[in-house]
Amino acid sequence: MCGIVGYIGNRTAYPILVKGLQRLEYRGYDSAGIALLDDEIRVYKCKGKVRDLEQLTKGNNISGNIGIGHTRWATHGLPNDINAHPHKSMNGKFVVVHNGIIENYTHLKNTLKKRGYKFVSETDTEVLANLIESIYLENKLSAENAVRLALTKVIGAYGLVVLCVDEPDKIIGSRKGSPLVVGVGNGEYYLASDATPIVEYTDRMIYLNDEELVVLSAQGLRVTTLDDVQKNPTITHVDINIDNIDKGDFEHFMLKEIYEQPTSIYDTFRGRVDLNTHQINLGGINEVMPRLAKAKRIIIVACGTSYHAGLVGEYLFEEYARMSVEVEYASEFRYRNPIIEPDDVIIAISQSGETADTLAAIRMAKEKGALILGICNVAGSSIPRETHAGIYTHAGPEIGVASTKAFTAQVMALTMMAFVMARKRNKISAEKFEQMVGDLVKIPDAITEMLKEEKNIKKIAEEYKNATNAIYLGRGYLYPVALEGALKLKEISYIHAEGYPAAEMKHGPIALIDNNMPVFVLATKDKYYEKVVNNIQEVKARQGKVIAIVSKGDETIRKMADHVIEVPNVDESLMPLVAVVPLQIISYHIAVMRGCNVDQPRNLAKSVTVE
Ligand code: F6R
Repeated sequence: MCGIVGYIGNRTAYPILVKGLQRLEYRGYDSAGIALLDDEIRVYKCKGKVRDLEQLTKGNNISGNIGIGHTRWATHGLPNDINAHPHKSMNGKFVVVHNGIIENYTHLKNTLKKRGYKFVSETDTEVLANLIESIYLENKLSAENAVRLALTKVIGAYGLVVLCVDEPDKIIGSRKGSPLVVGVGNGEYYLASDATPIVEYTDRMIYLNDEELVVLSAQGLRVTTLDDVQKNPTITHVDINIDNIDKGDFEHFMLKEIYEQPTSIYDTFRGRVDLNTHQINLGGINEVMPRLAKAKRIIIVACGTSYHAGLVGEYLFEEYARMSVEVEYASEFRYRNPIIEPDDVIIAISQSGETADTLAAIRMAKEKGALILGICNVAGSSIPRETHAGIYTHAGPEIGVASTKAFTAQVMALTMMAFVMARKRNKISAEKFEQMVGDLVKIPDAITEMLKEEKNIKKIAEEYKNATNAIYLGRGYLYPVALEGALKLKEISYIHAEGYPAAEMKHGPIALIDNNMPVFVLATKDKYYEKVVNNIQEVKARQGKVIAIVSKGDETIRKMADHVIEVPNVDESLMPLVAVVPLQIISYHIAVMRGCNVDQPRNLAKSVTVE
């Protein structure tokens, strides 16, 4: 999704902006641009990547200590040079970069056209730039107040940053529904859509709240509401390791993040699980524990990969804590007028903490009186700020658009939560609890062992790199893993892939099976094993190609399947944490072999801040 970076201080803005935009590339984008301000505003923008923007600026004037930059992920209008941000207002007074969607932009555009405004792009952002300018010129307001007044006329979501040529000593920013972070340096300030592009300059961040406006200048920083009420912003110290936002020796962030999983999930339980006593302390939800333990129902809301993690959570909570769980796509839940009782507990799962649908779902449930918990990765993001309590996954920044380490960290957080609830509700014995926790802390080692299979998995990838379709089958805890495997393959390799509960195959998908169809079957030794073996035979009887993910030492399936990938033996309820890894690896290699842009797949965004 679109990214923003801004700088005001004593240094030349250009290199800071370009580096910041590179750091934002992971969010997914189709065009990039910058505006530099000294005694004039110079705008450079183009379709394509940040390196294309750098080409464009070669030999041009790139001076200026104030500037803003943007990576655009098209919503209104094609990805092209004209629709790229920043957008200038018609008379050149303002330049704007904007994330989000202005819902009443057609109405605003028509009103502005009647006042003589002409538009060069198809974007809602140019409407914003002209709206601010028309208010500024007609009402003779300061730039700040013109922005303030303009925003009261806007319906929709925005994270926006504005420069004004008449007031060339400041940057104005505001947000509603789309995040904006101010980095506080030494006599200098940064602005960004998340902390990653600015964290190498400062760890002191101010996360703006909705409908707040910030003015940054040499005189300092001022945060107000849209009604001009002064706010005292809180400075948060963020702890992001800069190495985590570099690829290191890996060819892609995705591969690096797959390999980080032993560490990232260790970080999820580190400080929470006592490795000697095998007790779990989830500090973030301790206070709400009594209400959580009495909850009649848990509703998990999430999107995409996080939704799949939620499905694993459903199995865990039901099996161990004996709690009734529903898992919902946040986008459906928020509009369905769902029945939410005050003794329900909502758990929102989100890597970014900014997903618009998930955020809207929790706001709606909060209004109905439910307890809202979050399982999020990005500290300080919107969802953790709007929940009553929660657990950070501490997986570290996930830069590859396809989620990998965030998934395993979410599942780890849900596992700990389910075990704690099970004990609290007296549904498992102290001995069983300790034994499960003992198994849980061994998972990083099991993943390390799994990663050693990469070479074998790469060979299998070679055979299926030209597939046009693929099916993923799993049962029980491994059904969500089948869904996740299929999502990974389709999003980065553009091969059509579907995940099913294995037993559903005969109710339709079996019609698709022929000798060209790769079928990935999750068939480890759990209570469904015999049934899944039957499913493999059904696939083979129709000449499908079976790639089976099996428990170490399984000779039965080895004789039937075209390929086997062995996974270390862990308890079946912990198996998703391990069995997903080979599926991540195979998707990665197939995508690389097909020449796809693994870290920034087409049309996708890392942080989906629009609905
Ligand atoms: C898939 C993927 C997406 C996200 C989804 C939710 O690899 O990355 O499906 O899982 O957009 O994002 P978060 O977890 O940030 O709410």
